[in-house]
Amino acid sequence: MSVTGIVAVSENLAIGKSGKLPWHYSSDLKFFKRTTLHNAVVMGSTTWKGIGKPLPKRLNIVLSRKGGIDERPGVLHFQNTESVLALEEYLNCDLFVIGGSKTYESFAGKIERWIVTEIPKTVEDADTFMPADFLEGFELLITEDGEKGLKIKTYGRKG
Ligand SMILES: NC(=O)c1ccc[n+]([C@@H]2O[C@H](COP(=O)([O-])OP(=O)(O)OC[C@H]3O[C@@H](n4cnc5c(N)ncnc54)[C@H](OP(=O)(O)O)[C@@H]3O)[C@@H](O)[C@H]2O)c1
Repeated sequence: MSVTGIVAVSENLAIGKSGKLPWHYSSDLKFFKRTTLHNAVVMGSTTWKGIGKPLPKRLNIVLSRKGGIDERPGVLHFQNTESVLALEEYLNCDLFVIGGSKTYESFAGKIERWIVTEIPKTVEDADTFMPADFLEGFELLITEDGEKGLKIKTYGRKG
């Protein structure tokens, strides 16, 4: 089970606003779906509430200390990152950390690969951002050009 962070980030490192994405790029949503399909995705409770339903054809894992996550078929709820990572023994697929910011931070030491969509915008009124150093210790492996000026960059851990 490899652990991959996948994020779309604006020029000023914004990723969210009022519990949602601050933009709509259908090509990026399709890319996200294609990339994560038939794998496991882990998200924080805020992102889970924003999405509102399990992502189909993926094992959905929701991280929450407080709980209160509605029981839904195909959705697992865990209270800490260790319990999620312990699934390695049982899963024959990859784990994608799909956000938001607090959840990326929780898995930071375990992420082996980042897939970053660069959104060619500055979002001044965002309320959730990536830390400036989140790619420290990673090197750029692949750059792909997406639609509407999007760039998709894959990074791997150095060394
Ligand atoms: N641009 C992108 O690619 C992207 C991707 C995903 C999300 N987003 C955006 O990001 C925003 C949400 O991000 P966020 O940082 O506010 O919230 P988040 O990471 O989605 O959720 C935070 C919550 O997750 C739980 N959590 C996180 N780490 C945990 C840990 N180690 N152990 C136990 N529980 C843990 C806690 O839940 P409890 O409070 O329930 O205990 C915490 O309050 C939204 O606007 C969303 O749309 C953007």
